[in-house]
Amino acid sequence: MHCTAFLTCLLTVCLINQVSGLETVTGKYGDTVEIPCNNGRVMEGFVKWKYDTDGNILVKNVGQNASISNDTNYKNRVGIKQDFGLIIREVTMADQKTFTCMVVGKDDIFEYPVQLVIYKLPSRPQITNQTTAMAVGKLTKLAQCRTESANPAANITWFKNKTPLLSDGAAIKISTTVDVDKATGLSSTKSDLEYTAVKGDIGANFTCQIQHIRSANMDSSPLIFTVNYPPEKVSLQVVSQGPFKEGDNVTLKCTADGNPPPSSYIFYMKGEKKTVENSNTYTLTNVTRKSTGDYKCSLVDSEDMAASVPITVEYLDVVLSTAGKIVKGLGERLEMTVNVSASGTSQTSWKKGNNKLDSQPEFDKLKYSDSGVYECVVSMAGLKKTRTFELIVQGSPVIKKLTKKRDVGNVNKVLTCEAEGFPKPTVQWSVNGTDVGESPDVDGKVTYSITIIPKVNLTVSCTVSNFLGSVNKSINVSPLPEDLTISKQDQKDDNRDHPALAVGIVFGLILAVLAIGLAYWLYMKKYRQGSWKTGEKENGSAEESKKLEENQSQKADV
Ligand SMILES: *[C@@H]1O[C@H](CO)[C@@H](O)[C@H](O)[C@H]1NC(C)=O
Ligand SMILES: *[C@@H]1O[C@H](CO)[C@@H](O)[C@H](O)[C@H]1NC(C)=O
Ligand SMILES: *[C@@H]1O[C@H](CO)[C@@H](O)[C@H](O)[C@H]1NC(C)=O
Ligand SMILES: *[C@@H]1O[C@H](CO)[C@@H](O)[C@H](O)[C@H]1NC(C)=O
Ligand SMILES: *[C@@H]1O[C@H](CO)[C@@H](O)[C@H](O)[C@H]1NC(C)=O
Ligand SMILES: *[C@@H]1O[C@H](CO)[C@@H](O)[C@H](O)[C@H]1NC(C)=O
Ligand SMILES: *[C@@H]1O[C@H](CO)[C@@H](O)[C@H](O)[C@H]1NC(C)=O
Ligand SMILES: *[C@@H]1O[C@H](CO)[C@@H](O)[C@H](O)[C@H]1NC(C)=O
Ligand SMILES: *[C@@H]1O[C@H](CO)[C@@H](O)[C@H](O)[C@H]1NC(C)=O
Ligand SMILES: *[C@@H]1O[C@H](CO)[C@@H](O)[C@H](O)[C@H]1NC(C)=O
Ligand SMILES: *[C@@H]1O[C@H](CO)[C@@H](O)[C@H](O)[C@H]1NC(C)=O
Repeated sequence: MHCTAFLTCLLTVCLINQVSGLETVTGKYGDTVEIPCNNGRVMEGFVKWKYDTDGNILVKNVGQNASISNDTNYKNRVGIKQDFGLIIREVTMADQKTFTCMVVGKDDIFEYPVQLVIYKLPSRPQITNQTTAMAVGKLTKLAQCRTESANPAANITWFKNKTPLLSDGAAIKISTTVDVDKATGLSSTKSDLEYTAVKGDIGANFTCQIQHIRSANMDSSPLIFTVNYPPEKVSLQVVSQGPFKEGDNVTLKCTADGNPPPSSYIFYMKGEKKTVENSNTYTLTNVTRKSTGDYKCSLVDSEDMAASVPITVEYLDVVLSTAGKIVKGLGERLEMTVNVSASGTSQTSWKKGNNKLDSQPEFDKLKYSDSGVYECVVSMAGLKKTRTFELIVQGSPVIKKLTKKRDVGNVNKVLTCEAEGFPKPTVQWSVNGTDVGESPDVDGKVTYSITIIPKVNLTVSCTVSNFLGSVNKSINVSPLPEDLTISKQDQKDDNRDHPALAVGIVFGLILAVLAIGLAYWLYMKKYRQGSWKTGEKENGSAEESKKLEENQSQKADV
């Protein structure tokens, strides 16, 4: 008895000595755990399971059923295995203690204490008291994260974009508390995050992570907060597409970088102040050259926060001294000036009708060909001004040429009267003929023609006239099959009646008589030979005939 007590004492000492190396069994809260007795190496003897100093659970002899004590903590949820391992069902935190398997052998008593450790996984993170916005520079309580009923207590770590946040007591404050439930012995952990935002936190993710020794880390869903900050910079933009010209609308847009952005702005235009509410744009309508200048905008509550932008309104004024319909006489002078007043350098180009001119036209001595519609186009930086005028050069008609020609293989004579003048002169022939025709009027030139069959020698006159005057010219036509004959004299020659010319004319007459004789001789010779049929000779005689006609005509005019 004494000896047994001594042994027990010895064993207790041994037990104390080996506490540090105490065997441990871990069980999950609520599960069934098995606590082995000396790792299942006990084969015989009397085994008693006990806990603490005097808690009996059960006893068992080899080959007998176990006897379970009426300990209220265990009597309904314990059992023993063949190898004397103790089975406890529905373990709770109260079961986290040392259970001792005492084996009484033939000679000795051995005790095998085993530490039972109970763990419980924490609940998923719960976010509460979450705020929506954080103000830059201001410590704000963002949210609380909780996890319930864990053992051991779970840790909570906050992350910002996957980087753990550490409490520094100033910009970041994290206060974590662990509460142990008196009834269950389980711990809940909660952590409050207070955070001072910077502008870089726009769009940042905050997550709460639950860390537990027995489970994988659990992340809350990401929390995203609006980052509020006051405006630091104002900028003014010209929204409309430049360059601007007079009459354009120019829209200005003022923006500030704050969040939320300001809802009102002040626009300053040429000493005028305009506050716009719930908008950040202002439109200048129908700008003029006077609108050129600097424009400014600012915040309503802080006029120092401002921005400005220069606006230039381009203009182009073109004054052409001639406009509309200009009617001038042939040979007159037309003075024309273009005055351009513009905000930049401009280019001027000229067109007459559809043709481009190389330079500005000059009209020192107007010709009929100067008539037309002129277009002056001045352009500069997207601006274009067009000025037009129509020039009409008019003059009384003149006859440039009156000719006659034998119609090929015929006795018909075709008379052609070439006249110049504007408005287009009308023609009057002194004879009735056929195929009366006229060419289109080009640059004041018009050609009239008539076909006649002269029965006798005729003097045919062509009279051309417009409202500015009238002029005529005559030509002699004989029924003979003359060849091409031209009356080359000008109007001037026709009107010559100066006595000083008399001598010349007499001399001319003598020459003419000689020429007629020669011509007649040649003509008769040709007629007799019948050689007039060949073109070559005909041409040869044509020259002669022409001279003859000219002389005859001259004679007639005198
Ligand atoms: C042991 O228990 C079983 C059932 O629990 C019973 O059938 C058996 O008779 C018992 N044996 C003894 C020796 O009491
Ligand atoms: C059961 O426990 C009561 C006290 O709670 C005790 O009086 C009784 O003797 C015990 N019975 C057995 C079989 O151990
Ligand atoms: C958190 O929110 C709960 C209600 O959801 C409220 O009762 C509690 O006071 C809040 N705590 C803090 C610190 O704001
Ligand atoms: C924030 O979280 C969302 C959703 O998980 C993810 O798509 C996004 O990339 C995250 N942003 C950052 C900056 O981590
Ligand atoms: C919980 O935090 C404590 C103290 O910071 C640390 O020693 C322990 O390892 C952490 N546990 C887990 C599971 O991270
Ligand atoms: C300018 O704005 C006014 C009124 O807002 C509008 O009537 C006009 O057509 C605009 N002018 C141009 C060139 O867009
Ligand atoms: C634009 O301004 C000009 C001169 O300032 C004026 O003549 C014109 O009528 C204005 N146009 C409109 C659409 O207001
Ligand atoms: C063009 O400008 C000159 C000088 O500036 C002036 O004398 C002249 O009258 C102007 N001409 C027209 C057509 O405006
Ligand atoms: C031309 O014909 C008209 C009638 O057709 C006639 O009256 C006129 O006398 C004629 N003139 C000449 C010159 O033959
Ligand atoms: C017609 O003129 C030609 C010369 O050109 C002359 O020979 C002829 O005699 C004239 N005839 C009449 C009828 O006058
Ligand atoms: C031709 O012109 C002259 C003056 O140059 C004039 O006397 C004459 O009557 C005109 N003849 C005709 C047919 O018009």
